[in-house]
Amino acid sequence: MLEHGGRLLRAVRQYGIAREDWLDLSSGIAPWPYPIPPIPLDAWARLPETDDGLEDAARRYYGVQHLLPVAGSQAAIQALPLLRPVGRVGVLTPCYAEHTHAWQRAGHPLIELDENQVEAELDQLDVLVLVNPNNPTGRRVSPERLLAWHARLAERGGWLLVDEAFMDNTPEHSVAHCAERPGLIVLRSFGKFFGLAGVRLGCVVAEPPLLQRLAELLGPWTVSGPTRVLAQACFADHAAHHAQIERCAQASQRLAALLQGCGMAPTGGCDLFQYVRSERAAQLHDFLAHRGILVRLFEQPAAVRLGLPANAAHEQRLAQALTDYQKETA
Ligand SMILES: Cc1ncc(COP(=O)(O)O)c(C=O)c1O
Repeated sequence: MLEHGGRLLRAVRQYGIAREDWLDLSSGIAPWPYPIPPIPLDAWARLPETDDGLEDAARRYYGVQHLLPVAGSQAAIQALPLLRPVGRVGVLTPCYAEHTHAWQRAGHPLIELDENQVEAELDQLDVLVLVNPNNPTGRRVSPERLLAWHARLAERGGWLLVDEAFMDNTPEHSVAHCAERPGLIVLRSFGKFFGLAGVRLGCVVAEPPLLQRLAELLGPWTVSGPTRVLAQACFADHAAHHAQIERCAQASQRLAALLQGCGMAPTGGCDLFQYVRSERAAQLHDFLAHRGILVRLFEQPAAVRLGLPANAAHEQRLAQALTDYQKETA
């Protein structure tokens, strides 16, 4: 298993600090979960049925024609490499490590690229994978550029796989509405923007024949009945979408300013996290953890990623810890 944020119980054991005393900023999940609607007993008791309204609500929310709900976009990340013959895969790195892991495990030769290398490599690739906006760096590639890359790949039957797990905050930059084009696959994650990662829901947007093959590979009942009810309510609540977008943008800007004020200007970020590259990332991670603040540490390149503090008290706690760190390491 690869390393991820959100391992709070491990931190509890490792640092000997009680669970309720932690400030967990180790994931990029919005810290304000959407309210949970009443879930009818049937949703628990019966097997989930498709076309109960979830697909329609998701299509409307994402502005797309065709999609497949899955048990978290992670399920699709693992399955998609099994739906192609072995071929040369390029991944824009650093990114969410499950992508490289899944393609390699399925036997595809893989090269890691940065954005500037794509043009030169594209005609030798069968698949290009990227996260947009990227986790953890926050780097964003424009829709125009992505669609041009997709067109070149699709000419030869290739795929462009765009993981838009953090795109709900900036839907104007999404390419999901173009994903009926053969060879363009877009992944969306429900848990991050709606702050409900525990329900395990994602959507794959692509042309219907590919969605059909993916559905067959994943099998029936992948998304639970309660999740289907809950997600429909979240997708339909437009007023709450705007409020969440605003709230995240403001909190992310405050987080960036806070970091800058403590001498740790972010290297990148998006509206759900900030990213700071530093040779002393491991030391900073450990310093904060000893004060009950959990951030996500990356080794290569050395960096930390901080999710959004939920309120002013959490911001103050982080600011105080970073100020202490600055003093101790001056
Ligand atoms: C970029 C990215 N894609 C996909 C996922 C998987 O998310 P989920 O399976 O909850 O949709 C994550 C989880 O952190 C992620 O960071």
